[in-house]
Amino acid sequence: MSDKSYLSASYNNILVSAIENKNGLKVGLIQLNRPEALNALNIPLMKEVVDTMENMDVDDEIGCIVLTGNARAFAAGADIKEMADATAIEMQLSNRFARWDRIRKIRKPIIAAVSGFALGGGCELAMSCDMIIGAESAKFGQPEINLGVIPGAGGTQRLTKAIGKARAMEMILTGRMMTSKDMYEAGLLTRVVEDAVYLDEAIELAKEIASKPNLAVMLGKESVNKALDLTIESGLEYERKNFYLLFATEDKFEGMKAFVEKRKAEWKGR
Ligand code: CAA
Repeated sequence: MSDKSYLSASYNNILVSAIENKNGLKVGLIQLNRPEALNALNIPLMKEVVDTMENMDVDDEIGCIVLTGNARAFAAGADIKEMADATAIEMQLSNRFARWDRIRKIRKPIIAAVSGFALGGGCELAMSCDMIIGAESAKFGQPEINLGVIPGAGGTQRLTKAIGKARAMEMILTGRMMTSKDMYEAGLLTRVVEDAVYLDEAIELAKEIASKPNLAVMLGKESVNKALDLTIESGLEYERKNFYLLFATEDKFEGMKAFVEKRKAEWKGR
């Protein structure tokens, strides 16, 4: 049994819960909760988010994570007021975005459920997740250029990989906001849905993923992410090793046996 105390702990900037899933593991839900600042991502908020993701990652009852904000804003960026007086030397020494890198190490899938503004660090946080579900009226953008800087939490890299140089360059150099439909067509979003259901849809998708054998889910996520970093040769080798590794799991034997016996598999997560 893993430590569940993070579920009942009190947080200043986020809300945390675990949603029951009758067909599988639970869904961990993290809601950014600084509505007065459009969920601007200050250091204490990001500490709570990343620590909670790490707690959910080792919670054996959680199969998938959903990260969301509220209807008006997923997040309107890194907290500008926190950075307004900072110098380059202070930024270098505090390395405030280093914590964000830990999101990349989370092994369970993370779905961003985005409504309202996903700007600057908000767009970058959504892109740090594995899938993005966007409400129809959500707005995505990298407006850092209007502050005299550029994206600093992955925007120039992840956006370019996701939507290609032509469109990423335009977004980053103009700071223009784009709709969910634009971003879906460009390949950043998994799905665009009506405003009223963006969170429900993300939770449903998370429940479906959490009902699958979780070791295969983890290695599937890891292998897809490797496709962004590796050559095709190395990527195929990586995939093959993960494929063979799953033949060491009880769930592989159960899954294939259940198919042959024409019954529903019962996953153990082992
Ligand atoms: N940081 C700090 N506070 C923010 C914020 C941010 N990124 N975004 C919004 N807020 C605050 C506003 O200051 C305001 O607070 P007060 O009521 O105390 O004045 C409150 O949230 C509501 O915002 P607005 O009154 O501006 O709301 P609006 O509806 O008129 O405008 C908006 C909405 C277009 C999103 C506008 O708030 C905005 O342009 N925000 C900044 C967007 C931005 O530039 N993001 C990039 C940040 S830098 C970054 O993220 C670097 C990186 O790469 C990591």
